[in-house]
Amino acid sequence: AKVVEHDFEVAYVDAAPDCYAKTVIGINGVYPGPTIRAVQGDILKITFHNYIATEGITMHWHGIRQVGSAWADGTAAVAQCPILYGESFTYEFIVDRPGTYFYHGHFGSQRAAGFYGALIVDLPAGKHEPYHYDGEHMIIVNDWWHRPIVTQEQGLEAIPFKFVGDPQSLLLEGRGRYNCSAVPTYTPAAISCNQTDERCAPHVMKVERGKTYRLRLASVASLSSLNFKIEGHKMKVVEADGHNVQPFWTDNLDLYSGETYSVLVSANMPGDNYHLGLNVRGREDHNVPTGLGILNYNNAPVRQPSTPAPKGPAWDDFEASKRQARKYKALKHNPDPTSHALDRHAKVTRTLILLTTQQKLKGHIKWAINNVTYAPLPTPVLAGLVYNISGSYDTAPPPDKMPADYNIYAPPPVTETNKGSGVYQFKTGDVVDVIIQNCGNLQNISENHPWHLHGHDFWILGYGDGKYDPKTSPKTFNLKNPPMRNNVPTFPFAWTAIRFKLDNPGAWPFHCHIEWHVHLGMGVVFAHGIEEVRAKGIPNSVLGCGLTKQLFKLR
Ligand code: C2O
Ligand code: CU
Repeated sequence: AKVVEHDFEVAYVDAAPDCYAKTVIGINGVYPGPTIRAVQGDILKITFHNYIATEGITMHWHGIRQVGSAWADGTAAVAQCPILYGESFTYEFIVDRPGTYFYHGHFGSQRAAGFYGALIVDLPAGKHEPYHYDGEHMIIVNDWWHRPIVTQEQGLEAIPFKFVGDPQSLLLEGRGRYNCSAVPTYTPAAISCNQTDERCAPHVMKVERGKTYRLRLASVASLSSLNFKIEGHKMKVVEADGHNVQPFWTDNLDLYSGETYSVLVSANMPGDNYHLGLNVRGREDHNVPTGLGILNYNNAPVRQPSTPAPKGPAWDDFEASKRQARKYKALKHNPDPTSHALDRHAKVTRTLILLTTQQKLKGHIKWAINNVTYAPLPTPVLAGLVYNISGSYDTAPPPDKMPADYNIYAPPPVTETNKGSGVYQFKTGDVVDVIIQNCGNLQNISENHPWHLHGHDFWILGYGDGKYDPKTSPKTFNLKNPPMRNNVPTFPFAWTAIRFKLDNPGAWPFHCHIEWHVHLGMGVVFAHGIEEVRAKGIPNSVLGCGLTKQLFKLR
């Protein structure tokens, strides 16, 4: 194993991802951030220098479990104190599994400000994936707004609530297209919009006819469920969230925020250029234009085809999404032994049934889990647990179960929720089933929430429509070949069941990956193995805020 080192300078930079000039968070002057590449088992040492005068930053390594390095997970308020202006901080951790990952800011809504990039972990030399390809490409997809994140956050926190609304555009590798003529001329906004800006030229994926490509995809979307399609080409799905899956063919791929995939694409069509297309799913798209890129053959002159933009299933065709979600099955002979199959005899030691409701807190709209909206406190929870600091988190644990008689098809009967910072604590070795129950929101609409777990991967045991029944629903679980992942959708008025083994000491958020939802409290924290973390110690460099700052006389 080698050490992969990078120095990342973080500052606001001028960008025009969809032709509309906007200030975004750049790394070493560029947006999106540079791709980090390493080999399984390598040690990553990534140093961040914060040049943003008015904001702290943290960086999360999405999909990397941080075995033995929980403090490096990059979650503000849970793993660490934010890196302040003028300060530098080095994340050091091992990339223990091959696969497609990404990194993104995990403080406030900085991911939505463009603070992200790709992280690819290759197999060591001499080891091979169970599929063949001649070349590879990476595309991060995203939804994009013109208003700054502070404006969007302020609206979400305001009374009355002001929703961020539909994205202005959809981006592939940080490039998309906004219709500048939709902006009134002679306004300051019109000056910010220029369709001939080179920075919003469509993303081009170059291929050679006759070859097969591994296309790695990741969604860092702030809100939208997305669907990706390549005009005239089918995709063979082989990897999901860093785990190989039983391959299947599809002509459109659902991507929820926080998910990564690899698909194989054969360049076997006669033309020079084909559309890459990205559309909104699961939420009425109100004319959000298809995000377009170009698949270009043999270095032919690049031009956007004049054929219609590719469209996947209709936005409200939830059945198509469920069918696709159920296609994911673990690959039996996975070359990576840590990508272990489900132990069917493992005894489940605890079951959580988490009801996710939209409620209010003194007039502010919030998302809550079993009637608690997560409100982070300034001291990192990990340190609070390790050093037993009273006041660093709520010591009363949040509820394990939803009320048995809850009607999921109605708005919440009690509108007012509770604010909390409690932690679900487990023992190392516990095997936990978590059921996420989706229900009607304040308007009795139910939407898709993609849930992401830090520090562990989980088996997806199943999805079911309606209300979870502790007696009958487990009979439908897939205990034969459930896929292992770290991200999972929950469909409208439906439940999702996952299982995982607590084998990586630390404090780990489990939250909806929609940036605007986690901002409104849609998450919980799981912790275990605190004694082990205490024995290893936590570096002082993550403790310079809140109560740890006082306790250790830092700063
Ligand atoms: Cu990619 Cu906690 O998130
Ligand atoms: Cu959500």
